[in-house]
Amino acid sequence: MDMRRRSLFAAAGAASAAAVLGGAATANASTLSAAQPAGPAGLVNPNAPLRDLAAAIGLRIGSAIIPQDINTPSFAAIAGTQLDVYTPGNEMKWQVVEPTQGVFDWSGADNLVAFAKQNDALVRGHTLCWHNQLPTWLTTGVSNGTINKTQLLDLLQQHIFTEVGRYKGKIWQWDVCNEFLTDSNPSQVNPNDFWIANAGPEVISLAFQWAHEADPHALLFYNDYNIGGEDGSNAKHNAAFALVQGLLNDGIPVHGVGNQGHLDTQFGWSPQRLRQDLQHFASLGLKVALTEVDVRTFVDGPTTQVPTNSLAQFAHPFEFTEMLKSVLQVPEAISFTMWGFTDADSWIPGFFKGEGYGTPWDVNQNPKQAFFSLQSELVLAAKGAPRRVHTRMPRP
Ligand code: XIL
Repeated sequence: MDMRRRSLFAAAGAASAAAVLGGAATANASTLSAAQPAGPAGLVNPNAPLRDLAAAIGLRIGSAIIPQDINTPSFAAIAGTQLDVYTPGNEMKWQVVEPTQGVFDWSGADNLVAFAKQNDALVRGHTLCWHNQLPTWLTTGVSNGTINKTQLLDLLQQHIFTEVGRYKGKIWQWDVCNEFLTDSNPSQVNPNDFWIANAGPEVISLAFQWAHEADPHALLFYNDYNIGGEDGSNAKHNAAFALVQGLLNDGIPVHGVGNQGHLDTQFGWSPQRLRQDLQHFASLGLKVALTEVDVRTFVDGPTTQVPTNSLAQFAHPFEFTEMLKSVLQVPEAISFTMWGFTDADSWIPGFFKGEGYGTPWDVNQNPKQAFFSLQSELVLAAKGAPRRVHTRMPRP
């Protein structure tokens, strides 16, 4: 598996070298291939797309992609040019793929996989075992007793075999289990979680084993929010660490941990803690990833999304780039994925009352400061920051 990943990165690195040296000057798909004169050897094009800059160090930059992103040419152009790993925002969730028992709808997921292929991008599969967005036939069956524990486990196994099998060889990372931990201090695997309560605690190990059986080459992730120190106490990180360490000790095929990275400017947050927590997971021999990055703040309204606090426009790019910097400092961090790339395709206004402005592109798909800041960080990361020239102070 390592070989496969290495060769993938090697190819991406080679492809990126041209772009980094003399690639696209603007964030526009039509200019991507227009060759620019190469600068002096080693000069990084400061206007290169994020994906090309990141490829120079083997990092993937991505976003949740929803049908609107694929079907609207201006959105598709940004995704295709700037990003090289896509997560279906909803289209691989059980509720969507099997709305009626035995009746499947793979159209959204198939479109996403085709869109990735067309753009030479990878796919993060999301998500196989989660308490949310389950089909009603399943949750109703469990609550009215027509689906018992054994049948529930059988249905999950079937779901994982069917979905992971369908996309075998086409998914880079799978979020196998999502959001199983409590937000309390101390945190633990939630005994009231739908899966734990109804299928038993062994469901986590089984889900990873089934996914591995269905696609032995996919990287299998445990994914959750607030496990990069966002809770202040690090309680949830510690619970996530204990969970994956336990799985590894039991020989369960878990290969990575995804920290979602949903930040809100009204709360405190420590970039150093995030870096340490990513390193802590990596110390177990795991890959790490930021999987759902966004930074929300209070705004004037959902269609315009202008921050109401004037300092938010500074906090926003700061928190984005500090998350990226934490990733850059941890070699085991292999991808940085946003949850929507424009404020127009973000879930935030629909889920957090009064909030928005969460992504690097605004409601009109124009890049905001966060985009330029991410770009600058990646320029420095691609070649290393230039050496300072030290001159002596003139004598008085
Ligand atoms: C969200 C989607 O963006 C919404 O469209 C949907 O209605 C609810 O789910 N954590 C996750 C994601 O792991 O799957 C969630 O996505 C956001 C929070």
